[in-house]
Amino acid sequence: MSGLVIAIDGPAASGKGTLARRIAAHYRLNHLDTGLSYRAVAKALLDAGLPLDDVEHAEDAAHGVDLGKIDRTVLSANEVGEAASKVAVISSVRRILVEKQRAFATTPPGAVLDGRDIGTVVCPSADVKIYLTADPRVRAERRWREIEAKGLKADFEAILADIEQRDARDMNRADSPLKPAEDAHLLDSSKMDIDSAFLAACGIIDSVLASRK
Ligand code: C5P
Repeated sequence: MSGLVIAIDGPAASGKGTLARRIAAHYRLNHLDTGLSYRAVAKALLDAGLPLDDVEHAEDAAHGVDLGKIDRTVLSANEVGEAASKVAVISSVRRILVEKQRAFATTPPGAVLDGRDIGTVVCPSADVKIYLTADPRVRAERRWREIEAKGLKADFEAILADIEQRDARDMNRADSPLKPAEDAHLLDSSKMDIDSAFLAACGIIDSVLASRK
């Protein structure tokens, strides 16, 4: 028995990382932000000055990813996220990373994984699947506020364009496109703050777990 597995998928800046962290703490599960593994591969290529479609080096970087040792602080830049969505179209890179993500998910006491393909590909038999979304303008505004809160200047229209471009790339790629699993519970947080989204997600999880008793 590997324990409970909760899949949280959704587009860029939907708040799934924050939500997944809170759910993991609440249900005492491990948490994995799978976007970081794609970001780590992209950063390795960027640092080496290699093109993002260099399959051989991208595979090497993917093999080198240690999910327990990823330093998120060096991976948070927007350019790294953008580059990550370019290496994420490489099927062989996905296979290498997905294998590591599955091993994480099946380690006791169970885990909350957030990403784009958790409910559809990484953990298709997850106990609970949530697809978290929000209107692109709402997501762009949240990201804009985060940047301004750090005392930095941000251009709302540029952030919105970036989010829409990344969504399009993630939703339209051939391998593991971003889409809700057929049995996912849809959660639209456009009109919710993080506390309300957390309560709504706990409501979904608790009712799924109760229905299985
Ligand atoms: O979630 P985050 O913004 O860190 O993800 C960066 C990129 O990594 C995404 O835009 C997506 O292309 C890719 N990704 C993916 N599958 C996942 C997680 C992230 O393809 N499970």
